[in-house]
Amino acid sequence: MRMVDLIEKKRDGHELSTEEIQFVIKGYTDESIPDYQVSALTMAIFFQGMTENERADLTMAMVKSGDQIDLSKIEGIKVDKHSTGGVGDTTTLVLGPLVAAVGVPVAKMSGRGLGHTGGTIDKLESVEGFHVEIENDEFIKLVNQNKIAVIGQSGNLTPADKKLYALRDVTATVDSIPLIASSIMSKKIAAGADAIVLDVKTGAGAFMKTLDDSRELAKAMVRIGNNVGRNTMAVISDMTQPLGFAIGNALEVKEAIDTLKGEGPADLTELCLTLGSHMVFLAKKADSLNEAREKLENAMKDGSALETFKVFLSSQGGDASVVDDPQRLPQAKYKFELEAKVDGYVSEIVADEIGTAAMLLGAGRATKESEIDLAVGLVLRKKIGDKVNKGESLVTIYSNFENVDEVRNMLYENIAISNEKVPVPVLIHEEIT
Ligand code: URA
Ligand code: CA
Repeated sequence: MRMVDLIEKKRDGHELSTEEIQFVIKGYTDESIPDYQVSALTMAIFFQGMTENERADLTMAMVKSGDQIDLSKIEGIKVDKHSTGGVGDTTTLVLGPLVAAVGVPVAKMSGRGLGHTGGTIDKLESVEGFHVEIENDEFIKLVNQNKIAVIGQSGNLTPADKKLYALRDVTATVDSIPLIASSIMSKKIAAGADAIVLDVKTGAGAFMKTLDDSRELAKAMVRIGNNVGRNTMAVISDMTQPLGFAIGNALEVKEAIDTLKGEGPADLTELCLTLGSHMVFLAKKADSLNEAREKLENAMKDGSALETFKVFLSSQGGDASVVDDPQRLPQAKYKFELEAKVDGYVSEIVADEIGTAAMLLGAGRATKESEIDLAVGLVLRKKIGDKVNKGESLVTIYSNFENVDEVRNMLYENIAISNEKVPVPVLIHEEIT
């Protein structure tokens, strides 16, 4: 097989076979095929697209390029949730203990990564003593015992995707739905999930800004998952404004605790119940979505979700007393209010810019080397549609430095107030199965 023939075939709009796709991914991983030929192929894919078979083949070829996590020693159907990224997205922290409380095994491998706030592991590390450096056997044991454990990323998962993503980044071929969908799904499948619930964000703060693009990506991922034998569904949810109120690491842990008690922000609670119901249903722990939702609502009411969170934290060395006493979480030195300058209705809270403001305070990493300040961040006091009076707080700023002028300016520039009533944005746009 010659790579040049495959580039030509794709360039002219023909379908590549399973063997041809395996040849490309294997050759790219072992460096027998150079970057320039793969970049020509990805550009051809960008213009010609990929058939459903090609997408499934590409995904599985990337899965097989590295290690695959074996979760077979964990009892039950392992359902993973993946979110396409957003601002102040506390859903993972809530969903883990919530679905575990009704018997769904949550075997989470998680990372740190770059962004407005830290990853799930950074957030959890704001609980003193909590750690994810555990042995594989211990991880499996904990999931069987408590239905939930989190382990740090280890092993060599989907090296082909890492190389390909980096190449696409510098060749203007990231924005290709088949390539994005295969990239995301290969990582989920290599991590061992039997079933997958996808939260595809849409709006200003999301990777996909329009509903049409988000729907196309969601459908592509759902088809790949189902075609390779993983039960997969997607929810398309709003990310025009940040989800919930808190954006910051310890602040989001506090928000997750409130939500597990049933006292969290309405949008975060609703999204968690929706995604959670699908997880419970796919794990066959309920016969219908309604029954699944009832079970989750009960777990919030009767304290079992919160109890599961406590057991999870202490099993991995964490000080579970933070759950009853959140003051024990890292606290910022200064607290400032961002006061509204006029009366009206909040009409816009630009999610990604608000996220960047949180990052300026130190809540997230700009580079891999940056240190995270777990205590700092933002708590929204108003969301889109809320009425606000001049002088009332729009946002509370939690900072470890005294001069927050830059953050204040950024927030004022990205929170709009209108004199007319503004509707609350639709939270859940569509469910795709
Ligand atoms: N996120 C991924 O993991 N892969 C892509 O290709 C795009 C976004
Ligand atoms: Ca939040």
